[in-house]
Amino acid sequence: MLDETIFITGGGSGMGRLAARNFAEKGYQVAALDVNEQGLLETAEFHQNIRTFNVDTTNYEAVAQAVDEAETKLGPIRRVYNAAAIMPLGRVVDQDVEVFHRVMDINYNGVVNVSKAVLPGMLERNEGELVNFASLAGWVPILYMAAYNASKFAVVAFTEVLHHEHRDSNVNIVCVCPPPVKTPLLDQARDTVWPKVFDQGAHIEAQDVLDAIDATIAAGELFVFPGKGTRMAQRLRRFLPNLIWKNVHQTEGF
Ligand SMILES: NC(=O)c1ccc[n+]([C@@H]2O[C@H](COP(=O)([O-])OP(=O)(O)OC[C@H]3O[C@@H](n4cnc5c(N)ncnc54)[C@H](O)[C@@H]3O)[C@@H](O)[C@H]2O)c1
Repeated sequence: MLDETIFITGGGSGMGRLAARNFAEKGYQVAALDVNEQGLLETAEFHQNIRTFNVDTTNYEAVAQAVDEAETKLGPIRRVYNAAAIMPLGRVVDQDVEVFHRVMDINYNGVVNVSKAVLPGMLERNEGELVNFASLAGWVPILYMAAYNASKFAVVAFTEVLHHEHRDSNVNIVCVCPPPVKTPLLDQARDTVWPKVFDQGAHIEAQDVLDAIDATIAAGELFVFPGKGTRMAQRLRRFLPNLIWKNVHQTEGF
């Protein structure tokens, strides 16, 4: 058994769960954080080296305590997956103001909390990888996604600055920007509003995202754009935003 720890938020579902199991099977100690206790139990089933933490990432004190406990009981944190998020969709006028605050609190402030709590130790050891999950939605805004888009744009900006502040260290800071991935997160769109543009491209597998993260870390790069055409979509938004908006309006019908 390795004595390095992989620290994963959103470890009770989707990509966080898959990452937790993959690393556990490779012999790492895994600290899996989530607010979904049942999800955590399922993630850790059959894996003795996955330790679960029922922690809300919006609570900085609780996050810092989990970091401390993981490092003391399991070993120094080698890699972090900041994957906790929510995605309720809707038009701005239709969503309660609390939803905007909650989305920003989990998707952005949670990432800040974990980054702040794990970085001092990683920088002191001068090794490790901090993987923050943004989204292609952190580059391309579309109808119904104002709250989620804004939170992911914030993660992109935060992580880009952090990466450059530590470019001379051995700590790799990475920002993941996937298109739709086949995980339970998409059910939140199904339960609120399903943008028709989600049906335009293929939805990719969670493992493809994790493989792309490994490749980006190995290359020492900042941004991960998993999936065919994802980087192209990001470039299209940058250079021809009206083309994207034209398609979005036509597809959604308003
Ligand atoms: N699935 C996609 O289509 C997609 C696309 C691009 C980016 N992403 C991003 O990838 C990351 C992983 O997403 P996923 O698809 O695996 O989602 P998921 O819904 O399967 O898992 C997210 C987990 O985060 C947990 N969570 C929510 N709020 C929390 C909180 N306050 N504290 C702790 N845990 C909390 C949920 O309980 C859930 O278990 C997210 O940041 C998401 O925004 C997902």
